[in-house]
Amino acid sequence: MMKKKIGVVFGTRPEAIKMAPVIKELEKYPDQYEILVIVTAQHREMLDQVLHVFDIHPTYDLNVMRPKQSLSDITVNVMKGLEEIFMDEKPDMVLVHGDTTTSFAAALAAYYQQIPIGHVEAGLRTYDKYFPFPEEANRQLIDNLADLFFVPTELTKSNLLNENKLESEIVVTGNTAIDAIQYTKQLSVKHELLNTIQAYDKTILLTMHRRENHGEPMKQVFKAIKRIVDEHEDVVVVMPVHLSPVVQELAKDMLSGNERILLSDPLEVDVFHKVLSKSYIVLTDSGGLQEEAPAFDIPVLVLRDKTERPEGLTAGTLKVIGTDEEKVYQSIEQLLNSQVIYDKMSRANNPYGDGIASVTIVERIQKYFIK
Ligand code: UD1
Ligand code: UDP
Repeated sequence: MMKKKIGVVFGTRPEAIKMAPVIKELEKYPDQYEILVIVTAQHREMLDQVLHVFDIHPTYDLNVMRPKQSLSDITVNVMKGLEEIFMDEKPDMVLVHGDTTTSFAAALAAYYQQIPIGHVEAGLRTYDKYFPFPEEANRQLIDNLADLFFVPTELTKSNLLNENKLESEIVVTGNTAIDAIQYTKQLSVKHELLNTIQAYDKTILLTMHRRENHGEPMKQVFKAIKRIVDEHEDVVVVMPVHLSPVVQELAKDMLSGNERILLSDPLEVDVFHKVLSKSYIVLTDSGGLQEEAPAFDIPVLVLRDKTERPEGLTAGTLKVIGTDEEKVYQSIEQLLNSQVIYDKMSRANNPYGDGIASVTIVERIQKYFIK
């Protein structure tokens, strides 16, 4: 086989974490693949943290991030930047991940130059185009353009079959988030947060960033958190605060000044995984954390009204609780007070595979080129 040029495009923290194992796997075959790592830097600092942990050095960096950027800003700047790179480099395939605006714009830019597209973490759906916004539309649009679909589970495969995608173009891989965990597990990690939380019985790990939760929903959750901390002296809450200025302002305004609510900068992913492994409950609106926490046997309360990851609901590792203050408060109380309910959630099986998703992805790419 002639050497193939693979453009791996990503821009945000979660895409980087989940694409890093694919890059590492492709790198094992230098005779077969030339890899172009193209970062849009839709995120800057949070992306660079991941590149550092995985020791990845981008071939191209579009550096598009602007403070409080709009969705159009990202789309236009990514498309224009990629147009030039794709015209010069003519990759044989472009890989995109998930549902960010970087991924959508990259898929569209690749399509315009008739470059085959591989979609990693394809097939997730809520079928409500405003929930999550704009991710649900992004992933549906990407799946309309893609040529290969790397789906994490059988259920995501069935979503695509129902949308008349060809079975031969779909491969069930597990989620590369689990591969990333295998990687960070090998690293030796030190951080003062890890010492601080050791002094408490139970750590609640909180992350929140979704656009549809900006404002009132976030306020409701923060109020519930304060009540829990006031009523449980053995509980500490750790919140690495997303760098979105909207989240930063509200978290600092409502949660700072309490010695058992530890606000931190975003943590490097190896440190974050270690904190996760020491946590008792995860409270989050993140997509990736719904996949990672079950791998550490940690129950997840999902701060959204819907999830595109129903596998975790079926397995029993997730509970979708929304953002209403009383509901959030009661749901945490229940897990803190009932060992039976806690054990049931924490002992459920992780539905996202055993950490070889990237191997399966690269095997399928290989087949694509010898078809
Ligand atoms: C984006 C994705 C979302 C994903 C999330 C992961 C879109 C539309 N949204 O949302 O799907 O779940 O990333 O975190 O693709 N900022 C910094 N430094 C950083 C990162 C962000 O300062 O390293 C600030 C900037 O002011 C930026 C703002 O955060 O304008 C928002 O970033 P953006 O990528 O637009 O949205 P997210 O909420 O991060
Ligand atoms: N994460 C991290 N540092 C943090 C918080 C999260 O490395 O301080 C990782 C986490 O392990 C997961 C990913 O970031 O892999 C989730 O990213 P985010 O919540 O920003 O995006 P989403 O998954 O919702 O798209």
